[in-house]
Amino acid sequence: MSERKPILVTGGAGYIGSHVVHDLCDLGYEVVILDNFSLGRHENVDERARLIEGDLMSEHDLELAFKDQPEIVFHFAAYKAAGESMVQPQKYAYNNICGTLRLLNMMVDHKVNKFVFSSSAAVYGAPRYLPIDEEHPKNPENYYGYTKLAIEQNLAWYSQIKGLNFAALRYFNATGYDINGRIKGKEKNPANLSPIIMETASGIRQSMQVFGDDYDTEDGTCIRDYIHVNDLSSAHLAAMDYIRKNKENLVINLGTGKGHTVLQMIEAARRVTGREIPYQITDRREGDPPELVASSALAHQKLNWMASHSDLDSIFKTMKEVYLNPVKR
Ligand code: WQD
Repeated sequence: MSERKPILVTGGAGYIGSHVVHDLCDLGYEVVILDNFSLGRHENVDERARLIEGDLMSEHDLELAFKDQPEIVFHFAAYKAAGESMVQPQKYAYNNICGTLRLLNMMVDHKVNKFVFSSSAAVYGAPRYLPIDEEHPKNPENYYGYTKLAIEQNLAWYSQIKGLNFAALRYFNATGYDINGRIKGKEKNPANLSPIIMETASGIRQSMQVFGDDYDTEDGTCIRDYIHVNDLSSAHLAAMDYIRKNKENLVINLGTGKGHTVLQMIEAARRVTGREIPYQITDRREGDPPELVASSALAHQKLNWMASHSDLDSIFKTMKEVYLNPVKR
């Protein structure tokens, strides 16, 4: 095999990035991880990768990351709590937007032109129609979603002017843990539904809140499109191959096309874990649309990709291994 250049993964110690790093290493790639561990966990780092504990905003750390002239950059490093972004937009502007622009400029300087970007369904805002396809209007309702949209717009300009060849992958609701049990580090202070359900099932929390049960859905609670992290990872590898073979850029949704309510998620976790999951129905959370479900037709058409681990049993069986049977360290 010709001497392959390394692959740089920012945020490679994080929830989704660590799954992609493991899959890249399994394929025999030389992987360089740049992570400042603000969200990442050391136990999630694949030992086969070269780790740089550093920051996107550090010239020195970025130069280190580009020392071996990577072929392609996977960019996961970002803050992702929508609620927090509406309290501290400056933190999201600095890290998500400025950090990504620093990374893109380093890529231009080092003539690295392939980029796989972790984007989000949050770029769409409240749905005008369902399922949401990639042509849906982009009206983010929180600053986090805006950072992802702003970065996508910059990618388009860098592509037009500097020949960047990118894939922007708009995740719906990422969930689950590695089906091979290689990732054991639980998310720190999760804000998302499934880790909060599992913290309740495992007793880390005594109970949890269900933010409103008066929505116009089958049981009154919000519907979301939950996509397993292994399905997300396989889509990233397919997107890498796609931009290697095609000059065109790729902007696609990653979801299952099927939605589940909050109460259905809680019931599935209760069924799989055998644990009670106490909850209180509280007021609605501001900014929550009743339903968000992806059209994944374009991902299927372009990448021949379909979610295959995103059924609720697989999601909670894999999470049970992390939350209820943690490996003693
Ligand atoms: C899901 C549903 C809540 C917690 C967010 C970001 C989005 C993306 C995915 C990164 C909602 C309800 C939740 C709880 C609850 N992030 N809920 N009790 O809001 O769909 O999307 O994460 O890309 O950008 O906005 O995900 O998991 O926060 O909520 O009732 O304790 O669960 O109201 O209906 P969301 P979520």
